[in-house]
Amino acid sequence: MPVYRAKAQAGANIAFIKYWGNLDDALRLPLTNSLSMTLDRATTVTEVAFRPDLAADVLIINGVQQGGAALERVSRHLDHLRARAGLTWRARVLSENSFPTGAGIASSAAAFAALTAAAAAALGLDLSPRELSTYARLGSGSAARSVFGGFVEWVAGARHEDSYAYPIAPPSHWTLVDAVAVVSTAHKAMGSTGGHALASTSPFQPARLAHVHTALAKARSAILARDFHALGEVMELDALAMHAVMMTSRPSLLYWQPGTLAVMHAVRSWREAGIPVYFTIDAGPNVHVITLPEHESWVVAQLQAIPDVREVLVNYPGPGVRLLEREEESSPSPNTTL
Ligand code: PMV
Repeated sequence: MPVYRAKAQAGANIAFIKYWGNLDDALRLPLTNSLSMTLDRATTVTEVAFRPDLAADVLIINGVQQGGAALERVSRHLDHLRARAGLTWRARVLSENSFPTGAGIASSAAAFAALTAAAAAALGLDLSPRELSTYARLGSGSAARSVFGGFVEWVAGARHEDSYAYPIAPPSHWTLVDAVAVVSTAHKAMGSTGGHALASTSPFQPARLAHVHTALAKARSAILARDFHALGEVMELDALAMHAVMMTSRPSLLYWQPGTLAVMHAVRSWREAGIPVYFTIDAGPNVHVITLPEHESWVVAQLQAIPDVREVLVNYPGPGVRLLEREEESSPSPNTTL
């Protein structure tokens, strides 16, 4: 019995200029470009095996079989790739995260980048990196960026084909440290898919959108020039702008916990004392503390001393999605109709 199988690995990413709000929720077409750094240690490895004898898709994450919304989301995602390949076989998907689930590192970005690359390879689809990025985006917007390594911009676009990420600088360009201060591992009340749909209900969303173009230009040039303070300033401001939108949405999304604020204030006080350190926060309570390698051990020790900080996970710029294995002999040729 033929089995079309492949395995891929992708890193999570941390956005310096955020994606928050869609032009089209179903296609995950964002309202603005966004810019991120792909992470080296927070990775997901996913194996996809399409088989003629499966009645339904099977999804196993970190050894636990999933059902409901998680399975449906993955099945829907595989459908896009199955349609492209002209294959109807169901798949068994095995996914393992290198980082604690719910640690506030965007696991969906790594997960959907790895899933897309593995499924496309298993199906024998010969997709360009740009096409891979558009498909990854359909699963989770930020996954479009995890297809590439280093510093990555996602171009908003107004159609499926035009909304993709591209690398602006490789991981070796600049060794930034992302020390994630984990203050809570509780499951979020509202995930980002639901959150994006609420962005337009905030009176602050137009204000953020009016500013984001300038913020992107500043962040892009700061990265290219390795100007830490210029990047830090625009990054921290954009995270606060996005959270202002979240907090003022209806219903209101308040992701911060007391530990979140403790870390934010600590970062500000260290900066006032001359340490190059800034923060950014995604759709959750944990704080990504960005610093330079020579200050890493000091910053990590200080973070660990904050009572609400449970652990600190350090990441550097990492590579894009990688194909680890593929069963060449049994894979269909591109565009085979079965
Ligand atoms: O890709 P999603 O739908 O999980 O959205 C990501 C949203 C943020 O992490 C808050 C911002 C971003 O650009 O990564």
